[in-house]
Amino acid sequence: MFEHIPAYPGDPILSLNEDFQLDPRPNKVNLSIGIYFDDAGKLPVMDAVRRAESALLESIGPRSYLPMAGLPLYRDTAQALVFGANSEARVAGRIATLQTIGGSGALKVGADFLKRYFPGSQIWISEPSWENHRVVFEGAGLTVNTYPYYDEQTGGLRFADMIETIGRLPEKSVVLLHACCHNPTGVDLSASQWAELVPVLQRRKLIAFVDMAYQGFGAGLEEDAACVRLLTEAGIPVIAANSFSKNFSLYGERVGALSVVCQSAEEAGRVLGQLMSTVRSNYSNPPTHGARLVANVLADASLRASWEAELAGMRERILAMRGTIHTGLAGRVDEVMRARYIAQRGMFTYTGLSESQVERLRSEYAVYVLRSGRMCVAGLNARNAEYVAASIAAVVSGA
Ligand code: LMR
Repeated sequence: MFEHIPAYPGDPILSLNEDFQLDPRPNKVNLSIGIYFDDAGKLPVMDAVRRAESALLESIGPRSYLPMAGLPLYRDTAQALVFGANSEARVAGRIATLQTIGGSGALKVGADFLKRYFPGSQIWISEPSWENHRVVFEGAGLTVNTYPYYDEQTGGLRFADMIETIGRLPEKSVVLLHACCHNPTGVDLSASQWAELVPVLQRRKLIAFVDMAYQGFGAGLEEDAACVRLLTEAGIPVIAANSFSKNFSLYGERVGALSVVCQSAEEAGRVLGQLMSTVRSNYSNPPTHGARLVANVLADASLRASWEAELAGMRERILAMRGTIHTGLAGRVDEVMRARYIAQRGMFTYTGLSESQVERLRSEYAVYVLRSGRMCVAGLNARNAEYVAASIAAVVSGA
């Protein structure tokens, strides 16, 4: 019966991460998947999360189903974090927010919604973008196109080309934008570039689908969400997917949210209903545990302060590691390649390493980066940084 089923070629990120786990070499370094490791190379359990979890275990009660839209306190606190507690749209009740199974779940629920209610629309993602963006949107039946984004020559942004392409899109097209810490390049729009994009989206009557998986890892929690707020205040139809996998270090709990900014509270009610119907037809309702943890941290002043401080420390450690690898590569690779480590932001740097250099890094040095050359700098630490720099130098020089 199943003879015709082809083998799964694997996922460029998750399958590589699984290969890494099976690699027996003691000197192996995982710079592939977007996971933050601390300076000891360990996945942190954040103190606020640990405290919220202890309190939860003390008071744990019966576990019924959550509503299709998710835990009310979670939805509210997540929305406040993304849009700002005093956002006009939020105060007016114009934002439909529902709990999702991670950021990927938010993308999928949003994609299903678009396919159903904007059947003639296509989506444009950056070139390059997170590998799974194409997979999720194509999986929902949307046609996926790209707009110019990364400049391989400079390691920067092709902003003029990006604006030019977006300025020619048909009405009601969907533009997928990364709020901060662009995955995979680490190259973001500046505040003035976001401001320049706004009238283009308005003029062409486009839908902005903003993916924010790394809030807090760029410049700060508020700063990283500034573009979502700018687009919302400009009256652009915004769909925002956000994730707490990274900034709460709760990867396996699958905690995310999807928000759709509407024109009125009444419209938001209808949109939320249709998002709930998508959830019901896919997985019925979301799980409880991770959402309770996040909501309880965000709603408690002391836990929240602790979480924000720890997150700031993670952001600073990543910056420090960027500096360390940049120094470690001095005189070993050319300056254009080296500059990327400090020019790019967030968890990722697009190293400019070729596929064959990446392959040598893995097979000869047990250093894992993605085939595209994307490195997760959050996997570097004081013990492995020099080894990684020396390994990169060896493959770049062809030694
Ligand atoms: C990544 O880009 O490495 C992470 O977002 C993990 C994933 O699901 O791909």
